[in-house]
Amino acid sequence: MKQTYINQLKDHIGEQVTLKGWLYNSRSSGKLVFPQLRDGTGIVQCVVFKGNVSEEVFEQAKSLGQESSLIVHGTVKEDDRSAIGVEIDVSDLEVVQNSTDYPITPKEHGTEFLMDNRHLWIRSKKQHAVLRVRHTIIKAVRDFFDEQDFILADTPIFTPAACEGTTTLFEVDYFGDEKAYLTQSGQLYNEATAAAFGKSYAFGPTFRAEKSKTRRHLTEFWMVEPEVAYATYEDMMDLGEAMILFIVERVLKDRREDLETLERDISVLENIKAPFPRVHYDEAVEILQEGNEKGALENKFEWGGDFGSPDETYLSAQFDQPIFVHHFPAAIKGFYFEIDPERPECALGIDLLAPEGYGEIIGGGERAMDLEYLEKQVEAHDLPKEDFQWYLDLRRYGSVPHSGYGMGIERCVAWMCGIEHVRETIPFPRMLYRLKP
Ligand code: 4AD
Ligand code: MG
Repeated sequence: MKQTYINQLKDHIGEQVTLKGWLYNSRSSGKLVFPQLRDGTGIVQCVVFKGNVSEEVFEQAKSLGQESSLIVHGTVKEDDRSAIGVEIDVSDLEVVQNSTDYPITPKEHGTEFLMDNRHLWIRSKKQHAVLRVRHTIIKAVRDFFDEQDFILADTPIFTPAACEGTTTLFEVDYFGDEKAYLTQSGQLYNEATAAAFGKSYAFGPTFRAEKSKTRRHLTEFWMVEPEVAYATYEDMMDLGEAMILFIVERVLKDRREDLETLERDISVLENIKAPFPRVHYDEAVEILQEGNEKGALENKFEWGGDFGSPDETYLSAQFDQPIFVHHFPAAIKGFYFEIDPERPECALGIDLLAPEGYGEIIGGGERAMDLEYLEKQVEAHDLPKEDFQWYLDLRRYGSVPHSGYGMGIERCVAWMCGIEHVRETIPFPRMLYRLKP
């Protein structure tokens, strides 16, 4: 018999169906067993009445362990008490495998234990909800760029050189002679594809050997990176804002139930509206210094510094929308930034800070256009000249103003879900002290 999925059951009321899945939970009382079946699309309560099934099936139903795999045959009954509006009146049940001693029980477990059992933990309700939101965000991001005629041009993961500073490179042996690094960002290659296609984006895993053990850092994370020819840093604020609004709308439309499972304050997301405030770095410094005077921030922030987590949290708390900060000091930014001709100490960089303490989720800006300037920058940043010749070709042959940005998917998912740590926003997180499972 054909399999019906739990999220489709409402369309089959009164019908006989076959469900295939795993035992989420179970209880029994006298002549009744109530196995909860999950199949990845939802969870449904089944009712096994002793009088409706064979003796053997009833005994089996009673003794099933958590996460046993099973096939259930039964009739779909409307039920107002059920969260999904239906339950299953079981007529037969096939045990595919009876599982015993499943390590994750409904009691409380520590995070380390759960992370060690990540391969099983992703079956749990909350983890499941987070990863479904992730799926929807990724789909929304792709739809957003595809609908605007961006060409997806993915960039290599093995790269010969650094994009975001040499201190966070993962080195890999590339057949002995040559050194290769895992990419930190597809940006440099995006600049080439934008010169070819006008509007392009890359979407793939990126790597940072960051020895940061914070709730915002992974060593492997997914980044979506648009790049646009003839665009300015201001255009990137427009694009980033439109992308975020598109994502929020999609998540609210398609993942409301999952947000409810996560006990997310949905009104916060419903209130996200354009325009997002655009704050000059100079102004951000003033806000942070005031924060210090008021005693809300421990350190006095000085012009020229990079924001730490507490700074980002304080800054965004002054506004009720995500905020863009622009015009960062050139000295703390990548070698490739365009500088403001009127304020040469400022780079035309933009960051988007998410509300509620989620920090920077977008980083990008306008790229330097001039060949000579970039040659000097490559030298000043101690980068291997030979490896950047292809990049400099983009300034030799038809150089144009152009801009782009990167958004870390995991930070966006953490914000949408309202969860504490990015480690739960990717199926198998990689962090400073975690390479397994
Ligand atoms: O600000 P970042 O370093 O910018 C770039 O890599 C640019 N080359 C992107 C571009 O312009 N095409 O990183 C961009 C975003 C951050 O805002 C953050 O969301 C995410 O990537 N990110 C991380 N996410 C999780 N763990 C980490 N260690 C991250 N580092 C950056
Ligand atoms: Mg950044």
